Amino acid sequence: MQHIVVIGAGTMGNGIAHTAAASGLEVTLIDVAQEFLDRGMKAISANLQRGVDKGKISAGDKAEIIGRIRQSTSVADAAAGDLVIEAILENLAAKSALFRQLDEITPPETILASNTSSISITRLGAVTRRPDKVIGMHFMNPVPVMTLVEVIRGIATSDETYGRVEDLAKRMSKTAIEVNDYPGFVSNRVLMPMINEAIFALYEGVATAESIDGVMKLGMNHPMGPLQLADFIGLDVCLAILRVLQEGFGEPKYRPCPLLVKMVDAGWLGKKSGRGFYDYRK
Ligand code: CAA
Repeated sequence: MQHIVVIGAGTMGNGIAHTAAASGLEVTLIDVAQEFLDRGMKAISANLQRGVDKGKISAGDKAEIIGRIRQSTSVADAAAGDLVIEAILENLAAKSALFRQLDEITPPETILASNTSSISITRLGAVTRRPDKVIGMHFMNPVPVMTLVEVIRGIATSDETYGRVEDLAKRMSKTAIEVNDYPGFVSNRVLMPMINEAIFALYEGVATAESIDGVMKLGMNHPMGPLQLADFIGLDVCLAILRVLQEGFGEPKYRPCPLLVKMVDAGWLGKKSGRGFYDYRK
């Protein structure tokens, strides 16, 4: 595999493009408008600069990595890749429409992967004529730092597709872990109930946000407490994933905490909106 296409230049998409280019792959980064590409490339440049400042890579390395990323605003350019990773907004209708389009545009042997955190890979596969080549590649944020890729097999995903994606993850210095396609996969099935429970603890006045996070950081060695992590992921994203779990399993244990719903209603979405469980407006 030499050339991968990443669709969506947001946090996850630019992190995937950065990591792929840093491992020597040619990358085409596609988004609907140049301003989104500009923002994504600016983030890649800033994140690479961390390495330059620490003397881990040279300014020349940084320029070379950036030079391996082509930008495009046309989804037709996805045809050039050996594998496409979709990292657009977390919306079933939008992702299904894109997978249908990719199935038309790309050669039949191209693998179509999704970075979805909760949408069914089986459903995305079903809108294409190649469900055996549709797979989940769920990277973690920040992509250049986190070593996991949760690789999700839809009901029809072939062993060959899995094997090629596992090789690609290795090439990107990541570890692939294989999971099957059920709501929330493994990562969010385990993470989101923990975050939701932390929000319930806050809602019920068990402790302050700082105390809840402090217990989990100091007591469980988590790098961030669950409320800070929720702010970092985005409270709207957390709520959407909890709803997928609630709908997919029909079990009351996935009921989103009313405080989470209220904060999302208020537009308090965490770090990206300036306000969540903590205040980022300073
Ligand atoms: N790009 C590149 N490098 C980055 C980076 C980025 N966006 N963010 C941080 N780094 C690097 C730093 O440069 C630093 O590098 P060195 O070790 O070479 O010095 C290293 O990562 C650590 O960063 P910092 O020193 O700035 O800060 P930190 O030690 O507090 O770590 C963190 C920051 C890595 C984000 C850490 O707090 C952490 O691991 N948090 C938890 C992250 C997590 O759980 N992610 C999963 C979220 S869930 C998800 O993504 C999936 C989903 O479906 C919801």
